[in-house]
Amino acid sequence: MVDSWAEGDAVCLIAPREAPRIVRLARGPQRVGGDSVLDLTEQIGRPVGGEVPWLGATYRAVRPSLSDLLTTLHRGAQIVTAKDAAQILLLAGVAPGGRVAEAGSGSGALTLVLASAVGPGGHVLSCDRRPEFLENARSNVARAGWGDRVEFRRRDVALEGWGEDGFTSVVLDLAEPWQVVTHAEKALVPGGIFLAYLPTINQTAELRGALERSAFAMAETFEILRRTWHIEGRSVRPDHRMVAHTGFITHARLLAA
Ligand SMILES: C[S@@+](CC[C@H](N)C(=O)[O-])C[C@H]1O[C@@H](n2cnc3c(N)ncnc32)[C@H](O)[C@@H]1O
Repeated sequence: MVDSWAEGDAVCLIAPREAPRIVRLARGPQRVGGDSVLDLTEQIGRPVGGEVPWLGATYRAVRPSLSDLLTTLHRGAQIVTAKDAAQILLLAGVAPGGRVAEAGSGSGALTLVLASAVGPGGHVLSCDRRPEFLENARSNVARAGWGDRVEFRRRDVALEGWGEDGFTSVVLDLAEPWQVVTHAEKALVPGGIFLAYLPTINQTAELRGALERSAFAMAETFEILRRTWHIEGRSVRPDHRMVAHTGFITHARLLAA
């Protein structure tokens, strides 16, 4: 079956040596990034993957990958990195049909990754205490077309939790997750998974102490180091620079009732 473009689809324009751009497929010219104007009307009904000449380059119009969505999202708060997000999905057990409680929403980068993994039959309840971050996160998720599987709520989860239970995973990217541990116990199904992402080991130690005193068990903390390589002819070696540290991932499982 041929995959064809429909009005309203998210289109990713890619070309060698150009940064990917994501635009909504609409009729008529639209302004893209400052003063540039792009008209994709003739793509409507055409197969995905066609050529689009624009600004002296030839782009291919493709469906955005999750990585394209993350690299082009509009940032408010600091976002989780892709290398960490991939491990977060695995260790938090986020799968199709899952029900995930998230906080804070921030820029919605991690929300996008969670929404992609739970699929159309899943649900993500994403909370943040700051309305401006919630709005930005909501718009980044809507841009991907996944607004129907994510609910955003303004809530301070340290004070009031998520206000719902029956979640399969709780995923936290906020400064004081130890304040949320008892709310996470109430929000999760038995055997549900708690996961927190933290920038410093002091915060991580405080969280581990709170988990020790909780109904969670099997806690583990780790970090991911990702080193890219320079590969050009006979010059094959690690790149000179790398992002040495982003965050510590701690996960645990709800065992006691
Ligand atoms: C680092 S950002 C999250 C980034 C997000 N994971 C992303 O990838 O885009 C941290 C967010 O946590 C929110 N936050 C901090 N404490 C909170 C709390 N107790 N309840 C709800 N949100 C909280 C902040 O407002 C901020 O938006």
